[in-house]
Amino acid sequence: MTKNDILSTKDLVHEELKKANDLKTIQNIRIKYLGKKGILTDKLKALGSIDKKDRPEYGRVLNETKNHIETLIKKQEDSFKSSELDHALKTGHLDATVPGYFTPSGQLHPTTRVLDEVISVFLSLGFSIEEGPEVESDHYNFEALNFPKDHPARDMQDTFYVTDDIVLRTHTSPMQIRVMEKHKPPLKVIVPGKVYRCDADVSHTPMFQQLEGFMVDEHISMSDLKGVLEVFIHTVFGQKIPVRFRPSFFPFTEPSAEVDIGCVICNGSGCNVCKNSGWLEVLGAGMINPKVFEIVGYDPDAYTGFAFGMGIERITMLKYGIDDIRLFFENDKRFLEQF
Ligand code: DAH
Repeated sequence: MTKNDILSTKDLVHEELKKANDLKTIQNIRIKYLGKKGILTDKLKALGSIDKKDRPEYGRVLNETKNHIETLIKKQEDSFKSSELDHALKTGHLDATVPGYFTPSGQLHPTTRVLDEVISVFLSLGFSIEEGPEVESDHYNFEALNFPKDHPARDMQDTFYVTDDIVLRTHTSPMQIRVMEKHKPPLKVIVPGKVYRCDADVSHTPMFQQLEGFMVDEHISMSDLKGVLEVFIHTVFGQKIPVRFRPSFFPFTEPSAEVDIGCVICNGSGCNVCKNSGWLEVLGAGMINPKVFEIVGYDPDAYTGFAFGMGIERITMLKYGIDDIRLFFENDKRFLEQF
C-alpha cells in the first residue's frame, strides 16, 4: 500500500459518483469503499502492517481520504434526495398544499342528551336506576297495575300484542311492580327505557322512551311528589317556569295528576301549540294505589309512595321547541347538528 494508492481512491470514488444517477447506486458506492469489507476499510485495517515510523503519516492520509470520500458521497446523496422531492412535487405525486383530512366529530342524539340530563337530576336527589324487559307479560304491563282485563283505560295504550298474554310494554310502569316484588321499602328508583304503542303522527311514534320514577317509604306524601317534580322541572326547563298539578286518572295511582308547565312557545299567553290554554302537559304522576301495594305484598297501612312517568321525546320537544317527533328518527344531520 502506497500513499498514492490511498489518495487515488478519492478519484475512483469521484468517477463512480459522476456516473451514478440514483440513490441506490450512491448507497452501493458507500458500501464498496466504506462498508465493513470496503476498499478503504481494508486499507485502514492494513495500517498495522506499515512500518512503524511511517504509520502516523499513513494514518493521517487514510483518515483524511475517508473523510473526503464521506463528504463527496453525502453531498451527492443530498442533492439526489432534494431533486427527487422536486420531481415528485412537479409531477404532482405529492401536493403539499392539499388540506389534511378532516374527521367530523359525532355528537349525542338530542333525546340521549335530554335523557342523560333527566337521569342526572334524579341521581342527584338520591334515586337509583333500574331497567327491565321490553317484552312484558300482560300481568306486569296491566293486571298488576290495576288494569283489569275489560278496563277502558287499556284502550288509552294502543298495545302491540305478541300473544294474548305477552305484549311489547306500553309504558315503564310495570317496573314499579318488578322492583317492589324484589325489594322492601324504602325505595327511590328511576327506570329509563323504550316503550311501544301502535300509534304514529306528529307527536307519536311506535317506539319512544319513557322514564318512570317512584318513591316508597313510611309517610311519603303528595308534597314529596310535588317537591321532587318541581326540582326536576326547574332544573330542565329553567327556574322561572310555572308548574301546575291537574287532577287526572291512572289505575295504578290514587289520587292521580297530570303535570303541566307554562307554554314554552307563548309564555302562557295562548298559542296553537298549547291550544290557547297557556299550559303544556309534561308527565303523569300520583300516589301509588294501595291496591298495587297489596299485589306486591306491601302493607298499605304501613307504606305510602308516589310515582311518575314521562316521555323523553316529549320533554326534548318541549325543551327545544320541536314540533314533529319524527325528526328524531330521520337521521337528518341538518336537524341533529343543531344540538
Ligand atoms: N304509565 C303512564 C303512561 O304511560 C304514565 C304514568 C302516569 C306513570 C302516572 C306513572 C304515574 O308512574 O304515576 O301513560
